Amino acid sequence: MELPFAESWKIKMVEPIRKSTRAEREQWIKEAYYNVFQLKADQVYIDLITDSGTGSMTDRQWSEMMLGDESYAGATSFFKMKDMVTKITGFEYVLPTHQGRAAENVVFSFLVKEGDRVPGNSHFDTTKGHIESRKAFAIDCTIDEAKDTQLEIPFKGNVDVAKLEKELIENGDKVPFIIVTVTNNTAGGQPVSMQNLKEVRELSKKYNKRVIFDSARFAENAYFIKTREEGYANKTIKEICLEMFSYADGMTMSAKKDAIVNMGGFFATHVEEWYEQAKIKGIIYEGYVTYGGMNGRDMNALAVGLDENTEFENLETRIKQVEYLARLLDEYGIPYQRPAGGHAIFVDAPKVLTHVPKEEFPAQTLTVELYLEAGIRGCEIGYLLADRDPVTRQNRFNGLDLLRLAIPRRVYTDNHMAVVAAALKNVYDRRETITRGVEIAWEAPIMRHFTVKLNRLK
Ligand code: F0G
Repeated sequence: MELPFAESWKIKMVEPIRKSTRAEREQWIKEAYYNVFQLKADQVYIDLITDSGTGSMTDRQWSEMMLGDESYAGATSFFKMKDMVTKITGFEYVLPTHQGRAAENVVFSFLVKEGDRVPGNSHFDTTKGHIESRKAFAIDCTIDEAKDTQLEIPFKGNVDVAKLEKELIENGDKVPFIIVTVTNNTAGGQPVSMQNLKEVRELSKKYNKRVIFDSARFAENAYFIKTREEGYANKTIKEICLEMFSYADGMTMSAKKDAIVNMGGFFATHVEEWYEQAKIKGIIYEGYVTYGGMNGRDMNALAVGLDENTEFENLETRIKQVEYLARLLDEYGIPYQRPAGGHAIFVDAPKVLTHVPKEEFPAQTLTVELYLEAGIRGCEIGYLLADRDPVTRQNRFNGLDLLRLAIPRRVYTDNHMAVVAAALKNVYDRRETITRGVEIAWEAPIMRHFTVKLNRLK
């Protein structure tokens, strides 16, 4: 008989988790103003709020932590990290930052000015925040197909090159660079094809613009290229990564995802003048150029994490777990952004809670219901996270309204996934009884979802 698929690792250390009662959760979520970011982590049983900084490191990564060089300047740990980044991306200039948004802050500080327009596929919320807080505009040129959650296409994260070219023709003088997010988190952890990266590169050359990859999940993107795109089945993940980055001029990286560390990030580029400017901003905001907000030990772990997570077996283990959860949801008929993404399942909340009007935030309502059901914490990637339009101050209801179940790397087993699916099924089975959602009691002017206070409507 053919042997079944199994993880490419075994477990050496475990962390106990705790269940709670529904009465406890009712109290806790009320105290958290129906905002799961305000919960204490020990009030959560299975935590799928993010896959960022929540992964388990390998024994090799932990052993490298003991070898960290904590020298202020010129630490060997920096060179270990830099050499690995260069090996995997081809970029020779590497500036560490404490996480991904810090790299965005450093780079956008010298590249983005008031009135600029930064086109790309869906911008992640911190990316959008760093653009909009500089009174510039994030122009979303994702393909329209990404908005149809039930449509199954292999590269739903792609840039619509016609939309991008229109933007470059009409507003080219205001475009400081093009940004491509791999994988496209906001559209559902959906990958961008190599073909699409090439097409964006050609346009960038035609209009004399540079390209930055927001690379948080670039290795997962490479996995999808290998398994879905013609011509890549026999290439290694590392070969695919090198080709991907050959179509960019620089990258911002949240190492908390695909480098599987708990904290860390960097900016890397082949453009010397960018690096020179980034160093100045990096020193002000992050720290000296050979540590930039990171410990030496963390840079060591990051280097190993990058190396290990650009190997096929590790990515396959991870993505097959996401697919396993998707298969269970298929069995129960629960609609989500198809096909399953690289790091998460995104449940299509308005298709589940059909009686909750958009003004009452269906995805946030579903997030609260899932927490109440079983202590499972997902998070809303929808109308709350979309913030208000900076000009009109109206809620942005034109995108998707999703409940994201982000799966930490190498943390939960498939049994946990089965619990998540069953809890969601229980909510789904009583969906007709859920007719009211939530309303905003207080919100911050930007990136409101982290701190928003909500009332639950009855
Ligand atoms: N870019 C993307 C595509 C991201 O998903 C994130 C973070 C960042 C940039 C910012 O990186 O957190 O290290 O500052 N995403 C996390 C998430 C928070 O839950 O999706 P960071």
